[in-house]
Amino acid sequence: MEKILVLDFGGQYNQLIARRVRDNNVYAEILPYTTPIEEIKAKNYKGIIFTGGPNSVFDMSSPHYTKDILEIGVPVLGICYGCQLIAWMADGKVETAPVSEYGKIEITSKTSPIFKDVPEKNIVWMSHTDYISEAPNGFEIVAVTDDCPCAAMQNTEKKLYAVQFHPEVTHSEYGNIMLRNFLYEVCGCSGDWVMDNFIDNTVAKLKEQIGDKNVILGLSGGVDSSVAAGLLSRAVGKQLTCVFVDQGLMRKDEGDFVEKTFTTLFDMNFVRVNCGEQFLAKLKGVTDPEQKRKIIGTEFFNVFWSEIRKQQDKGFFAQGTIYPDCIESGKGDAAVIKTHHNRVNVPDDVEFLGVIEPLADLFKDEVRKVGEKLGIPKELVWRQPFPGPGLGVRIIGELTADKIKILQEADWVLRDEMAKNGYEKNLAQFFCVLPNVMTVGVMGDHRTYDHLIGIRAVTTDDFMTADWAKIPYDILAKVSNRITNEVAHVNRVVYDITSKPPGTVEWE
Ligand code: XMP
Repeated sequence: MEKILVLDFGGQYNQLIARRVRDNNVYAEILPYTTPIEEIKAKNYKGIIFTGGPNSVFDMSSPHYTKDILEIGVPVLGICYGCQLIAWMADGKVETAPVSEYGKIEITSKTSPIFKDVPEKNIVWMSHTDYISEAPNGFEIVAVTDDCPCAAMQNTEKKLYAVQFHPEVTHSEYGNIMLRNFLYEVCGCSGDWVMDNFIDNTVAKLKEQIGDKNVILGLSGGVDSSVAAGLLSRAVGKQLTCVFVDQGLMRKDEGDFVEKTFTTLFDMNFVRVNCGEQFLAKLKGVTDPEQKRKIIGTEFFNVFWSEIRKQQDKGFFAQGTIYPDCIESGKGDAAVIKTHHNRVNVPDDVEFLGVIEPLADLFKDEVRKVGEKLGIPKELVWRQPFPGPGLGVRIIGELTADKIKILQEADWVLRDEMAKNGYEKNLAQFFCVLPNVMTVGVMGDHRTYDHLIGIRAVTTDDFMTADWAKIPYDILAKVSNRITNEVAHVNRVVYDITSKPPGTVEWE
């Protein structure tokens, strides 16, 4: 398989660069700038992209790399900091720019393989305070702006290219064409990264690895474990056992839907453990959010491992880990390994033949594409994020069966209404919360004293920050009307108009 290396110098867009490359059907992987050159040489990359970074190349404490990388015969594209780094490595001149450029800026470009099919004048996204004041020997300047004498440069003989702007962000009008040009015109890629190939290759690899042994997968009903289950089922059918722990804190009918999907559409052994009552007993009287999370998490694995201990034969343990969980970040002096939140610690007395992570090379959007191709229903493939502790963190205070039921019903009405009016595509996440607040209302001639439901809906790309969604009033009115009419014991609905920060997406 053709591979592009995204060498990470700590820029905020490193994953985006890799995703854009993959969108152009070429596999890209991210490694930190601390990766030794011998390791890079051994991997036979078709090309290397240096990412941006928050630093100055002439600050020696900032990330650098041996300039030998420019001599190994592999094409390089430097972006922003990566562009300045190439200039610095090749003995050009990098200085603090008299005028920093930030935002959409027009460049004027010359003929270059990178600018094939790109108009001479076009808009790019800039974000830099240093600039290249003199291109190194052997390099030709191929783009300028009013304030930047070297917005792009190239050494065609050595196949080295560098752009001061960010082609990976959509604000750069022709950025994707430029990246594509690097991949196809410069690196000579043919574009073999397509999801059909991925499925065929992965299924073949899984068959070989698993042989006639068994595999166990913990299925949560989320996107990643569902797609992992679909792939494994295609590879080994009944040798796969999926264990689905239903803690009673999923959305309305969700457990049944997961069971129906995997027992009717896929060939596998499906074990559903219904343990809602057991969870509620453990959570009795508990109101502190952190303690609730802890109990739910601990109990979940207690149930899961005790189910695994019942399995007769020792087999492989599969997990739905995806690529962003595996990437080592190039930020800071040493490569910091991100917390692998999807990876699970196996207890000492549970033994497996090995761990299988069939999605470890995929970004979320690729996981979804694979899921669709495997025939997993849209409701699962496009499922919005759902917290591990489920509705447990959407009911403030103590959990009871009655409160769970009220919240499930209200949340179902919200989802149903959003699906009917098609507004859900505008939202990253939306759900109901039950704040455990009783208010006075009036229904017919009667005074009521019933529950309050909160609606939370946000837009965001990364969930680190989020905006409260400006849902049209008429939709909110309809949802409120339906919830108070259709859900027993709810007499009031409020809408959460808090962004993150200062709020979090979840209420607990
Ligand atoms: P917050 O509330 O931290 O949520 O702004 C950000 C995103 O993370 C999800 N979330 C969780 N996911 N286990 C999870 O798997 C959790 O304990 C958890 N808490 C929050 C939340 O739904 C949102 O998408």
